[in-house]
Amino acid sequence: MKVPFNPFLINTFQGKDYFCDRENDLKILISHVENDRNVVLYAWRRLGKSALIHRLFDELETSKDYETLYIDLLATQNIDEAIQAISSGIYEKYGKTSTGISAGIQKLLASIGATISFNPLSGTPEITLGVNKSEQPGQSLKALGDYLLSRKKRIVIAIDEFQQINDYEASNAEAVFRAWVQQIPEVRFIFSGSHRTLMEAMFTEKKRPFYQSSQLESLQPISLKAYTEFITGHFQAAKKTIEPESIEKIYSWSRGQTYTVQLVCNHLFANYKKVTNLDVDTVFNQILVQQQAIYANFQKMLTRAQWNIFRAIAKEEPLQNPLGKDFLQKHNLGAASTVSTALKALEKLELVVKDAGNYLVHEVQLARWMARL
Ligand SMILES: Nc1ncnc2c1ncn2[C@@H]1O[C@H](COP(=O)(O)OP(=O)(O)O)[C@@H](O)[C@H]1O
Ligand SMILES: [Mg+2]
Repeated sequence: MKVPFNPFLINTFQGKDYFCDRENDLKILISHVENDRNVVLYAWRRLGKSALIHRLFDELETSKDYETLYIDLLATQNIDEAIQAISSGIYEKYGKTSTGISAGIQKLLASIGATISFNPLSGTPEITLGVNKSEQPGQSLKALGDYLLSRKKRIVIAIDEFQQINDYEASNAEAVFRAWVQQIPEVRFIFSGSHRTLMEAMFTEKKRPFYQSSQLESLQPISLKAYTEFITGHFQAAKKTIEPESIEKIYSWSRGQTYTVQLVCNHLFANYKKVTNLDVDTVFNQILVQQQAIYANFQKMLTRAQWNIFRAIAKEEPLQNPLGKDFLQKHNLGAASTVSTALKALEKLELVVKDAGNYLVHEVQLARWMARL
């Protein structure tokens, strides 16, 4: 892997050296995989689920006992697109040989009615499924599964943003996937998702196909201690300095959210040799200013009642009782019943989340921006 210019990465996994801690989470995941248990990895957004999966896969691939397949369902709208994503993943992993496309993969793709074409602009291959495939998603998945079973090594598949299947128009997507997982019991699955309530519901509600099928692992923020060592280490290695006090300030402003901590450190590392608390404030401000146009849109998206309570939650974080008299009066929110309805809508959109009894604005940077309004 290439050495990055800035050790604080904000959009990829580039190897262990730039990955902070998560040793215990990694151990737990490895133990699940080694003991044939499927896993649900869930957490709030941008805490590091996807990066952790890549870190795990790096480890598993290095061990030479496993082959790993990472599938992201975020952009998929229906089962066909999910199958397309899985086929593409398989093609990427196994399809290319020194003499062209592997014969086995060609046969596999043909059997599910998929064709490979090359994007004329980027030259990257694209898998397209034939029409009317949606009538037999189970069969296509079975063919893909059979291929995976034919591999010599153990296969671990991560399906990221798995909650997306709740949005598919076909109502039986969960059942179709569940059947697939059961058809290939030798393959280990890691289901990951950012929509915590949806993920929990899928795996804990009795009537749902995935009920109690996997081990639930909720990812927590990296500890301040581990982050302090990581940040200090990278600054020192570049002959720069940052005090633990500044790191604590960053960590609490970011609510320990990995992405935001990384982003702030990325800017500080780029612009300063000796970071002061004043510099930290400057960077906070720059980050919020940059996002301003996006954040302003939220006000347009929401009703007035929703917006008012949304902003009030940001200002009062962490808020325990959003229907309490003091809170309603202080922020001029009107009747508790109106607030209750608006709050439910915000929770459904996961703009507001309840964490350990406290109401929070899910996106921490958005929360910091609104708190200033
Ligand atoms: N342990 C880590 N150490 C350093 N950076 C990390 C770590 N985990 C995640 N990141 C960074 O934070 C960003 C957000 O993580 P990501 O895995 O995409 O979150 P999620 O999948 O939970 O939404 C990533 O782009 C990655 O660069
Ligand atoms: Mg992710």
